[in-house]
Amino acid sequence: MQSPTRPTDRQAAIFISVAVGIVVAIVTTATFWWIYSLVRTSDAPAVALAEAARGPWSPSDGIKVITSAAPNPQADGRPAWLGEQAWVEGVQAGQAWVQNNPNTVNVQVLTGMTSAQVWTYMQQYVSGALGVGCQYCHDLNNFAADTYAQKLSARNMLYLVSDVNAKFIVNLPNWKGNYVQCATCHNNAPKNMEAVGAQFVRSVPDIPVTVDPLDAQGAPVTDPALKPEAIRDQVSLQDAVLWYIYNYQVWKPFDPADPESGRGSLALTVDGGRTQEQVTINQNVMNYHSWSLGVGCTYCHNSRNFVAYELGAASNIANAQAGYNKLKAQQMMLLTTWLAENWASYGAVPVATIPPELQGGASRFSYQRLGDGQTYNVPGCYTCHRGLAIPRAAINQGGIPAGDAGKVVLPVVLRGN
Ligand code: HEC
Ligand code: HEC
Ligand code: HEC
Ligand code: HEC
Repeated sequence: MQSPTRPTDRQAAIFISVAVGIVVAIVTTATFWWIYSLVRTSDAPAVALAEAARGPWSPSDGIKVITSAAPNPQADGRPAWLGEQAWVEGVQAGQAWVQNNPNTVNVQVLTGMTSAQVWTYMQQYVSGALGVGCQYCHDLNNFAADTYAQKLSARNMLYLVSDVNAKFIVNLPNWKGNYVQCATCHNNAPKNMEAVGAQFVRSVPDIPVTVDPLDAQGAPVTDPALKPEAIRDQVSLQDAVLWYIYNYQVWKPFDPADPESGRGSLALTVDGGRTQEQVTINQNVMNYHSWSLGVGCTYCHNSRNFVAYELGAASNIANAQAGYNKLKAQQMMLLTTWLAENWASYGAVPVATIPPELQGGASRFSYQRLGDGQTYNVPGCYTCHRGLAIPRAAINQGGIPAGDAGKVVLPVVLRGN
């Protein structure tokens, strides 16, 4: 005989399933609330506003960095490349060189340009982009000589700009006409660029996580022996986020006819689902996207369907004029992955230690140990975007009339199209 106060098995089952349902709902809501609150309270919009208020990047920004600095003569007797006097001497020496050599002498990338065009481009878009005078790369007595390592590095970076534009930028779906140039990454400094913003370090906890990457068929790899060495053991969540930025792959390429396509390393909806830690890693990679571009999740996603790619003026996507942003972001992760794979051959110089002035804060994550075993400052989304959906120092040739001026602003050979 059952006592009247004791619930029947059926009542108990209902009670348990309701209770479990409530717990799941609370946990899910809390998790999403947490992600949204991270993005909402981020300083990305403030950074974006400050950057946007400054208007598009202009060469005079970088030239001011040079002329307003104190002279910096080098211990090895090399002349200063900073200071008003160094700037004037460099420009004048260049002018004299151009008069004596109307045609270029040792130009390997910027072919098809006159010396005068190269001189103009150098002043505005090389010196201006890096915030360094001609002396950083040139012996002022002979602009054709490859005397200094910095000039060789810069020549490789010219190839880099040409290849980045050709392979990744000009073929973006719904490309808006902005190219990458030296200033897009350098932001008026020759080195120590930052690949992550301050919000990243404040918000992504330094907790150990197990990374289970997806293989080329989209199946989770759980056996440590089969994982890439960098993530074989547990790593910090912070390093796991950046690992995805530099090791992204697409295992089911996008096909507008197939709603299940466009799947890559960060897909959560795969057979068997993903572990809770993988979900946490994915969420923080997404936060890194949002913070880097100064946007919310709906800039790229339809929040009713995170799996979908929205190509047009889609349902509830934030920028109704143009969809494509999730697809663009996927191509950009392929770009950062390509950069990490090829970085050593494009002129970047490895560092023995992370510069002391950058060791605290976000900058530690700007440095990656690459395939050759050396440590480099490697560009990430934030290096170019710095809190804006379109990088402030990208260059759009749209308003520039065809002919010499356009050729000089971003030389045709660097445009990749
Ligand atoms: C960051 C390094 C860097 C800085 C700074 C720089 N240049 Fe250059 N410059 C180069 C490279 C690299 C080349 C060769 C380009 C090539 O091979 O296509 C070059 C080529 C030239 C040439 C053509 C030389 C020839 O072989 O005919 C001139 C002229 C020149 N630079 C002038 C200047 C002037 C003037 C300044 C300062 C206003 C300057 N450069 C600043 C890297 C630099
Ligand atoms: C995709 C981003 C990116 C672009 C575009 C880019 N650079 Fe760089 N460059 C870097 C990074 C990152 C480093 C490494 C800086 C460090 O070691 O702290 C670097 C290093 C250099 C160095 C060596 C600095 C040194 O003293 O060690 C030179 C010179 C240079 N770049 C010139 C250029 C020039 C000129 C252009 C345009 C033709 C250019 N870069 C375009 C990201 C870029
Ligand atoms: C700049 C564009 C961009 C922003 C902003 C962005 N995402 Fe993503 N999201 C992507 C891309 C690209 C993928 C990769 C899909 C893949 O690898 O298959 C993705 C994947 C996802 C997935 C996995 C979908 C699946 O296929 O299973 C989820 C969930 C997600 N994002 C949530 C978010 C949330 C929450 C935010 C805001 C914090 C956000 N995203 C911000 C571009 C973005
Ligand atoms: C080397 C510089 C560079 C890097 C690194 C970079 N981007 Fe971009 N990105 C650009 C440029 C330039 C554009 C503008 C292209 C255009 O005109 O359509 C752009 C555009 C975009 C857009 C489209 C914005 C819009 O409103 O049209 C998205 C989304 C985006 N990037 C995401 C990312 C993500 C995510 C990363 C890191 C995985 C990243 N980018 C890394 C240079 C860069």
